[in-house]
Amino acid sequence: MSPHIVVFDSGVGGTSVLAHIQKALPSAHYSYIMDNKFLPYGELTKSALNTRIVEVMTQLNIHLGCFDLLVIACNTASTHTLELLRSKLDVPIVGVVPAIKPAAQTSTSKEIGVLATPATISNEYTKRLIGDFANHCDVRLFGSTELVAIAEKYFWQGELCLKQLSRALAEVKLSNIDTLVLGCTHFPIIAPFIKQVINSECTLVDSGAAIARRVKGILGNELSVDTIKKGPLQYYATAPIEQSKLDIKQIDL
Ligand code: DGL
Repeated sequence: MSPHIVVFDSGVGGTSVLAHIQKALPSAHYSYIMDNKFLPYGELTKSALNTRIVEVMTQLNIHLGCFDLLVIACNTASTHTLELLRSKLDVPIVGVVPAIKPAAQTSTSKEIGVLATPATISNEYTKRLIGDFANHCDVRLFGSTELVAIAEKYFWQGELCLKQLSRALAEVKLSNIDTLVLGCTHFPIIAPFIKQVINSECTLVDSGAAIARRVKGILGNELSVDTIKKGPLQYYATAPIEQSKLDIKQIDL
């Protein structure tokens, strides 16, 4: 049987990570779950995030069946709750955290930005990442929930207002950074537009490809070449979605 990989986020952001994993491991079976009942996670406190994420994750089996690996495709959830989650669940868990290390290594000017949710940029884990891997850089932190809403709208309705995006990125545009970390999985969905409204010379960096390599490294030996046995990708959501272009099962969590 193909291994069953569950990819989790508060909303559609994790699909940007899922795409990388599917490309690296096409024969795995996937479930994608979004906790849109509590979207946006970026405005929750650490204690609210911990309580909610543990509540959802410890009941996943009931709704999704057994799975072999869990990807927390959400920087906000990973930077706050990963350690706690690992102590509660008995499956391998891969988290997604801002790609500060590669950005610090590749930046020429050593002036880098981290664009993430308010909960991610104000968090001790993120500060530790900066201290460990980027203390030779000038690191600017930009927090935004509006960008999460813009990415959700673009994903579901295909609509994006460049003026609104430009306003939301005003501070980033004024900075002198040469590298911008997309520290929220929603942001790669609108990366071409972000690139368009900020300095086009600026390099955007996200964690998607690295996460896919990590998942492959863990599951590599279990991968079956028999793709016939794998089920179709199933999406789950914890709240109703209007105008959904996907076949989504709503679960009560
Ligand atoms: N996609 C999530 C992240 O990577 C969070 C979006 C939100 O719910 O605020 O942080």
